[in-house]
Amino acid sequence: MKIETRAKFPDFVGFVSGIDLKKDLDDKIVKEIDNAINKLSVLVFKNQNIDDDEQVRFTKYFGEIESSGKTSNITKANDRRLSTDLADVSNLDKNNKPFTKDDPRRIFNLGNRLWHTDSSFKKIPAKYSLLSARNISKEGGNTEFADMRSAYDYLDKQTKDKVKNMVCEHSLIYSRQRLGFDMTKELSSEDIKNFIPVEQPLVRKNNFTKRNTIFLSSHIGKIKDWIRPDSMCFIDDLIEYATQLKFKYIHKWSKDDLIIWDNRQTMHRARAYDDLIENRDMRRTTVLGEEKLI
Ligand SMILES: [Fe+2]
Repeated sequence: MKIETRAKFPDFVGFVSGIDLKKDLDDKIVKEIDNAINKLSVLVFKNQNIDDDEQVRFTKYFGEIESSGKTSNITKANDRRLSTDLADVSNLDKNNKPFTKDDPRRIFNLGNRLWHTDSSFKKIPAKYSLLSARNISKEGGNTEFADMRSAYDYLDKQTKDKVKNMVCEHSLIYSRQRLGFDMTKELSSEDIKNFIPVEQPLVRKNNFTKRNTIFLSSHIGKIKDWIRPDSMCFIDDLIEYATQLKFKYIHKWSKDDLIIWDNRQTMHRARAYDDLIENRDMRRTTVLGEEKLI
């Protein structure tokens, strides 16, 4: 196995070759991959023609799987296309047909176009996400990743002091409200209960590399002890700053790419494609975080 980086980002995004994810991996290789995720935050594996079981097995090398159920989405159990071990980030219903324009599940999934970290709205937020490209769109559909460790490092001292002990409220409802999703019309009272905001610190430290990172996400709707409009102005400025080109890797997908990213130290967003026509099948497994942060 070989892991290479590119000149622009010596410590962000590794390109992994010489490994077949269909096969069993020994402890040494798993440790090597795990260390590389901690150091590089994003790992790209090309030509991995894996099925769901193989993706789940590979994911479990890095921890417990986060179940993708009613606290992650509004899709009802009997409308699911995939098992709850996988988050369905395609544009497809259970008959493998693209969602129609007004389908609430499509509109809800548009939240993935906003910069976010997966499951930051859960009490124990996600550790790693693994996204497998089973079928890609002809145009568009890139995924962008931003390095929240470099973004932290470049903050001026005044801002570092300001964010040091900051606590933010995260909820799927906050990110969907940004898009004008009509909560009263589209969400049941049970959905709303499932998406109650949780508090997370804005600054985290990676215990392996000891680097600080900004735990930022469009799921943030409020800073603790701040009013919401002030919170939103501050968070939006920070997201704009943290996602500028110098912190950002843009991935143009090929079929059978698999990417692992570390949600503790990156943000990501999906880019647009013709989702009413194209059939884009992307399947995500998620490694549960190890601790409640507050
Ligand atoms: Fe995501």
